[in-house]
Amino acid sequence: MPEFNEKTITAAVIARLAECKDPRFQRVMSSLITHLHDFVRDVNLTEQEWINALMFLTATGKACTDKRQEFILLSDTLGVSVLVISLNHPPEQGSLESTVLGPFYWENAPEFPLGGNLAAGVSGEPAFYSGRVLTTDGKPIANALLDIWSGDGDGTYDMQMAGDVGMKARGKIRTDAQGRYWFRSIKPTYYPVPTDGPVGVMLRRMGRHPNRPGHIHMIVSAPGYEAVTTHLFVANSEYLDSDAVFGMKESLVTQFDKHPPGKAPTGEAVSEPFYTVQYDFRLRKSAAAAAA
Ligand SMILES: [Fe+2]
Repeated sequence: MPEFNEKTITAAVIARLAECKDPRFQRVMSSLITHLHDFVRDVNLTEQEWINALMFLTATGKACTDKRQEFILLSDTLGVSVLVISLNHPPEQGSLESTVLGPFYWENAPEFPLGGNLAAGVSGEPAFYSGRVLTTDGKPIANALLDIWSGDGDGTYDMQMAGDVGMKARGKIRTDAQGRYWFRSIKPTYYPVPTDGPVGVMLRRMGRHPNRPGHIHMIVSAPGYEAVTTHLFVANSEYLDSDAVFGMKESLVTQFDKHPPGKAPTGEAVSEPFYTVQYDFRLRKSAAAAAA
């Protein structure tokens, strides 16, 4: 009967994948087992530390609800999300860069007409966003979809607000025939990722701050083009140089120009200072469209 020790166990576990019918799964699991075992040997993991790790993962799962995704936060704060994105979406030909989805995406946000106010009733300084969705060689993409979300002016997302407030500061906008978009929302501010769960415990123990620089999220998509999950970051925001989830990309840092109260680009009168933001998104053709 075979028995295993710290030297032979890894090869033995991988050998049990011999009958696996899925070559990709076999490769992924073999590598995972190799690195996991190497990690245990590397730090000479104690039994108590391993139990602590399992309890941590259990708590991470229990912290997840339909409005909270603690595992995405764990992936983000360990840099795995950005690593996966970097491998799968290398920027090419000046195309829009991807960054993390984050834990606050909510499907089926309402669609607004061009110029719509996504943040009606939401605290924060008004900001008017505009620009175009273009091909990598600068041709406009009509009917491209921007699926947009952010926190309020204090960096709090609707999912985190007390009570069931529904969707706030979220919405979809489609480009016109010239590929143009414009909408109103607020100027985002820096905010801490949720720290009242297991990931917060981990960050404190690591001696890390939990803050992200100010940003507005969006997924930009159009038929025949690669959809891009991204942000616009506020230039000069605190924490641009130490984003807690490593998502900052210089190409996504955007100037927010401040204006006195008056007529906004949408034609509406604004009784408080407001900001304007201009950014063009360049999309790559999808692999299928490029091959056609
Ligand atoms: Fe965010």
